[in-house]
Amino acid sequence: MNILVLGSGGREHALAWAILQNPKCDRLICAPGNAGMAALAECADLDICDGSAVVTFCEENAVDFVVIGPEAPLAAGVADRLRAVGISCFGPSKAAARLEASKAFTKEICAAVGAPTAAYAHLTDAQAARAHIRANGAPIVVKADGLAAGKGVIVAMTEAEALDAVETMFGGAFGSAGAEVVIEEFMDGEEASFFVLVDGETCVAIGTAQDHKRVGDGDTGPNTGGMGAYSPAPVLSDTIAEAALAQIIRPTMAEMARRGMPYQGVLYAGLMIRDGLPRLVEYNVRFGDPECQVLMMRLGAQVLDLMLACAEGRLDQVAVNWADDHAVSVVMAAQGYPGDYAKGSVIAGLEDCPDDSFHKVFHAGTRLEGGQVLANGGRVLNVTARGATLAEAQARAYGMVDRIDWPDGFCRRDIGWRAL
Ligand code: AMP
Ligand code: GLY
Repeated sequence: MNILVLGSGGREHALAWAILQNPKCDRLICAPGNAGMAALAECADLDICDGSAVVTFCEENAVDFVVIGPEAPLAAGVADRLRAVGISCFGPSKAAARLEASKAFTKEICAAVGAPTAAYAHLTDAQAARAHIRANGAPIVVKADGLAAGKGVIVAMTEAEALDAVETMFGGAFGSAGAEVVIEEFMDGEEASFFVLVDGETCVAIGTAQDHKRVGDGDTGPNTGGMGAYSPAPVLSDTIAEAALAQIIRPTMAEMARRGMPYQGVLYAGLMIRDGLPRLVEYNVRFGDPECQVLMMRLGAQVLDLMLACAEGRLDQVAVNWADDHAVSVVMAAQGYPGDYAKGSVIAGLEDCPDDSFHKVFHAGTRLEGGQVLANGGRVLNVTARGATLAEAQARAYGMVDRIDWPDGFCRRDIGWRAL
């Protein structure tokens, strides 16, 4: 098969690596890709949110299957365009991608089926939002309705902070994404991520993970896109995972199908767990980044078979083969991230890192110039390892970090601490 992966981050590098292990893959193309993906596949310069351009590219290159990594092309309807011309693809339709693109939509679907989640109000003007906050008090959570690159959520510990957030959002800080807000009850507990493949009907769990969103050790400092992840997440036990499927995921997926917008692809459920009970924080319509890196490390080549079964509506016939293993991914970021940072510094020592089914350095934001790997983003490398225990995986990952010679980069030294 000829397979196209859309995206340019560590998530897509990990997907490409896993797909390439599978003998069904004859030719792999990544668009636009990065320096890491260029080492294992062809890279194509393509505007991945332009459905017509993606369709034309697939026709010209006899692409059989497209894997869509990020949310932007999904929200832009690229999956719909591909399916309309008979090209198989992994990822939800534009209508179903609203589960990530509109927080109010997700809350309404949850309410329709009684799925456990925070109580909420959907407000379209600042005055009503302020009144709601004064009536409910803090802590309280203010969210821009639309996609805001991970920055549209304010967990306000005081009423003043919540009122400020309302001013910011209705003031246009998030453009049209903030023209409507969702204000939620604050949920206490431990967060974990649950990944489920859905083919419109059948839901198959493919793993759990925990992200580290704060930039500093011990979960301090500003929020980021994610500084590291590990899988499995022990807080998301089999019992809690089954409860999340029974009470949240299967009912909401059935509601989507009932409304004529069946969900097809990977569903990323962010859960808040307290007293053994899961509640939904949010849905994302794609793999997490860097959660995908640890999942791919653990699942390996079977991922392609699972994604094909998902796209072809055959998930009722698959089984996921789990090894009793653990994986850790440490994000190396450019100094200054998540604030201002410089691009273009040289990364050396990558060739000294072991590279096998237990050790992988996925590239998140890199480019090649004159045979050197240069930093080309905020999150730059995802140093990922697998082991029989979490401690072994963590030691392997930091062993690789210590071989990488990149003075302009940094990482957290405690990825996995909650589970250790
Ligand atoms: P979201 O983009 O909705 O996942 O929100 C980003 C982060 O804000 C989540 O990962 C949580 O840590 C936090 N958060 C969101 N909603 C709530 C809530 N209702 N209660 C507590 N924390 C929340
Ligand atoms: N790591 C969080 C996310 O991908 O949304």
